[in-house]
Amino acid sequence: MSRGTIFLEQAALIQRHTYPQDQHVVRLLAPECARRAEAGMFVHIGCDVDIPMRRPISIMRCDPDEGWIEILYKVMGPGLRAFSRCQPGDKVSIIGPIGQGFRPTTARNIALLIGGGVGMPPLIFLAETLAAMNSTDSSCRYEPIAFFGSEIPFPFELVGGQDQIAGIPEQVTARLKLTDDIAVPSRLASKAGIPGSFDGYVTELAAEWLKMLDQAALDRVMIFACGPNPMLQAVHDLAQRFQLPDQLCVEEYMACGVGGCAGCGMLVHTDKGPAMRRVCVDGPVFDGYSLDFLRSQEK
Ligand SMILES: Cc1cc2nc3c(=O)[nH]c(=O)nc-3n(C[C@H](O)[C@H](O)[C@H](O)COP(=O)(O)OP(=O)(O)OC[C@H]3O[C@@H](n4cnc5c(N)ncnc54)[C@H](O)[C@@H]3O)c2cc1C
Ligand code: FES
Repeated sequence: MSRGTIFLEQAALIQRHTYPQDQHVVRLLAPECARRAEAGMFVHIGCDVDIPMRRPISIMRCDPDEGWIEILYKVMGPGLRAFSRCQPGDKVSIIGPIGQGFRPTTARNIALLIGGGVGMPPLIFLAETLAAMNSTDSSCRYEPIAFFGSEIPFPFELVGGQDQIAGIPEQVTARLKLTDDIAVPSRLASKAGIPGSFDGYVTELAAEWLKMLDQAALDRVMIFACGPNPMLQAVHDLAQRFQLPDQLCVEEYMACGVGGCAGCGMLVHTDKGPAMRRVCVDGPVFDGYSLDFLRSQEK
């Protein structure tokens, strides 16, 4: 857990790539944020001087040495529309890094990462983190595997290939070049007919893979996920079906974004009973079994 320092920075926008359906990948020079960012944390972005409310966006990648962070977002309304007009060289006000991120543990070293739509960024960050831990710390033996789903074109370079993942249909070959480059196996799911992808929901793809694991392997699996609430519900159903722990990165409407206004309260269940938690600073990552909105769906 980190209750680290949160910084206000005037970040320089250094790169923008635009993808179909108003998806954008943006790189920002923000050295303080890059130094302390962890997978699952987010930045609160000032989109325009005329729009007082900031917008929360997950950190997808960072390079502490070069001092940049990268984000992926899809425009939903006026805030991110205004931010999309910022071009390389422009300055952007950001607050970050904010929140409690994912907590991988070597006790469950098979990390099943599931990301949906603009919920993919925290899982990409986690995949890079686990791969880096494996290469720098010989006591770490994480075995990450990632499944990503989208119903619109993926805002990434995609690759295919011959190598198989046990349990995954052999025609399902599409994956992200980003995760291939760090040797994290991944596959894509979509009902939109993306070539090489699994024709269905990302959770159905993950279930295919889980089904072929024996009990000894299942005992080593931890699920990490981020995506829209119906996807998180399906992920949590999967966790219950296979009796696995899950860490879920959730979204809530936010005002201050730094713990001061209680505007992002979410009902969770703790050892001491029900309690309200602030998604911005107590989350956005929570134990899936603690989340009331998932429990209330249980039969
Ligand atoms: C911790 C956190 C991390 C996030 N990470 C990402 C990310 O990496 N990439 C990304 O594209 N989006 C992310 N989001 C969602 C993003 O913050 C909202 O989509 C964004 O604020 C919308 O801003 P806008 O100006 O485009 O639209 P607005 O005009 O602000 O909103 C348009 C519509 O989008 C919906 N909406 C806005 N905010 C939320 C929200 N928090 N939860 C649910 N629905 C919302 C509402 O229906 C609203 O009417 C994240 C949200 C949170 C809380
Ligand atoms: S948004 Fe203000 S406390 Fe979370």
